[in-house]
Amino acid sequence: MKILAINGSHRKGKNTAEMLNTVLAEAEAQGVETELVELMDYEIKECISCNKCLFKPECSIKDDDMDKLYEKMREADGIVFGSPVYFSNVTGRMKDFIDRSRPLHMVANELDGKVGGAVVHADLRNGGQELALAILNAYMQGQGMLVSSDRGADEGIVNTGAMGTKFASCEEGKMRFVKRVTQDEVALTSCQRLGRNMAKLVQRLGAE
Ligand SMILES: Cc1cc2nc3c(=O)[nH]c(=O)nc-3n(C[C@H](O)[C@H](O)[C@H](O)COP(=O)(O)O)c2cc1C
Repeated sequence: MKILAINGSHRKGKNTAEMLNTVLAEAEAQGVETELVELMDYEIKECISCNKCLFKPECSIKDDDMDKLYEKMREADGIVFGSPVYFSNVTGRMKDFIDRSRPLHMVANELDGKVGGAVVHADLRNGGQELALAILNAYMQGQGMLVSSDRGADEGIVNTGAMGTKFASCEEGKMRFVKRVTQDEVALTSCQRLGRNMAKLVQRLGAE
């Protein structure tokens, strides 16, 4: 059983990566194999809307790294997508990747039935995380994935996915931020729960 994390941050190894690694650490603790992919390590050309993937389960663009990413997604039992919030949306990198994943969807539905999850990070406390999560959740549902959540039994977390921030306070118009998202307890708890919930679902489906 394997869970793949895909980071759409334009900055490798930063806050979104830390959130994804927290999800993966919890999944590993449940006995699931994991891998983190940084989209910035791959060449991803933008979709040219040729629509060839409506009829054949492949992309007409061959001279970039998407084939490697298709293969990693095919092999995974679960996929957790992570993105920083850019203007209440996912990053341009993540959107290009999402658009280029269309060949997996239109003919063969290759992601159908895989477990999905999402994490987002924004600098502000209410910086558009909910909308960015909704975008990732709608994408996963469109792919037929079984969308897991950070659902737990207790405190006020909305359970649509994990949301992180570095925002600390704003006094007299001066904003203060903590250094790393790992100082955001709510985000960490959400990521851990998401990792646990995804791992359990992957294992349950694998046992069927
Ligand atoms: C083009 C751009 C747009 C951004 N838009 C928002 C925004 O709408 N809300 C917000 O809180 N932060 C916004 N930010 C800040 C990023 O969300 C923040 O730097 C990012 O989550 C850090 O993630 P990373 O450490 O993985 O790169 C924006 C940053 C950039 C570069």
